[in-house]
Amino acid sequence: MKQDTAISNKDNTCAKEEVDLKDVLGILEKHNGDKGGLIAILEEIQAEYGYLPEGALRIVSDKTGRPLVDVYSVATFYRSFSLKPRGKHLICACLGTACHVRGAPRVVEELKQQLGIKAGQTTPDKQFTLETVNCLGACALGPVVVIDGHYFSKVRKSRVGQLLDDALNGFGKIEIGKDKRIFPIDVTCPHCNRSLMDETFAIDGYPSIRVTISSGHKEGWLRLSSLYGSYNTSTEFEIPSGAIVSFICPHCCRELHSTSGCSVCEAPMVPMLVDGGGIVQICSRHGCKNHMLDLA
Ligand code: FES
Repeated sequence: MKQDTAISNKDNTCAKEEVDLKDVLGILEKHNGDKGGLIAILEEIQAEYGYLPEGALRIVSDKTGRPLVDVYSVATFYRSFSLKPRGKHLICACLGTACHVRGAPRVVEELKQQLGIKAGQTTPDKQFTLETVNCLGACALGPVVVIDGHYFSKVRKSRVGQLLDDALNGFGKIEIGKDKRIFPIDVTCPHCNRSLMDETFAIDGYPSIRVTISSGHKEGWLRLSSLYGSYNTSTEFEIPSGAIVSFICPHCCRELHSTSGCSVCEAPMVPMLVDGGGIVQICSRHGCKNHMLDLA
């Protein structure tokens, strides 16, 4: 049975069809000798190709010495992995019990009809892939649909067309200053309680949040917008889409990670304390826009 997690590769572009041996070997090299690293290896391959091509899985099996059947059992267990190329926009519609009783089947039918595909399929123009899941952890808000990492709650059949149009136009275009869901927060390290705010580097017109990040063999700075609801960032080096990044306090050098996993992609959440009380958590996977704010 597949584990029900939503899809991790939020910025997925159309999948690459051909496996480049050098790319896969490069990814394997990063995880050399890491016996527990199969999931991380597959995550990076999927970030590279948009899915897990058979050729890449064979190379992984060959080079790590793991039987191919083991590699496939991991690749097919996690719902975040796909063995088929996906479209540019990924739609996950929840059909769990709570969403079901609130009308999710009608929403899914409308999605199928408007896209002209069944669940699990990709549109011929490779724009949309439609998947259904059994619970996205937001049951009270059902029916829930996640498109490219954006949660939509209480979705009605009549809203489907607009959501598809918005996906094509890009959800990332938030109007700073007009959108009431966006407001500035100041944050501190949960270990040393020192400020993570950087007055010298503005994003969205506000001081940014500065942390150190480590991904693969690279380490450098990451600056995040301090506007809650804005996803604008600036990084010292390029992070592969879908990669899980370690967030480190630039003052005490301790890693910021929560014991809870992301409800969308299961990557560790990154906690920061909000000035004035509360905690904000963001997903550590590059491209996953899941975040939570709990103001005490
Ligand atoms: S049943 Fe749909 S979010 Fe839980």
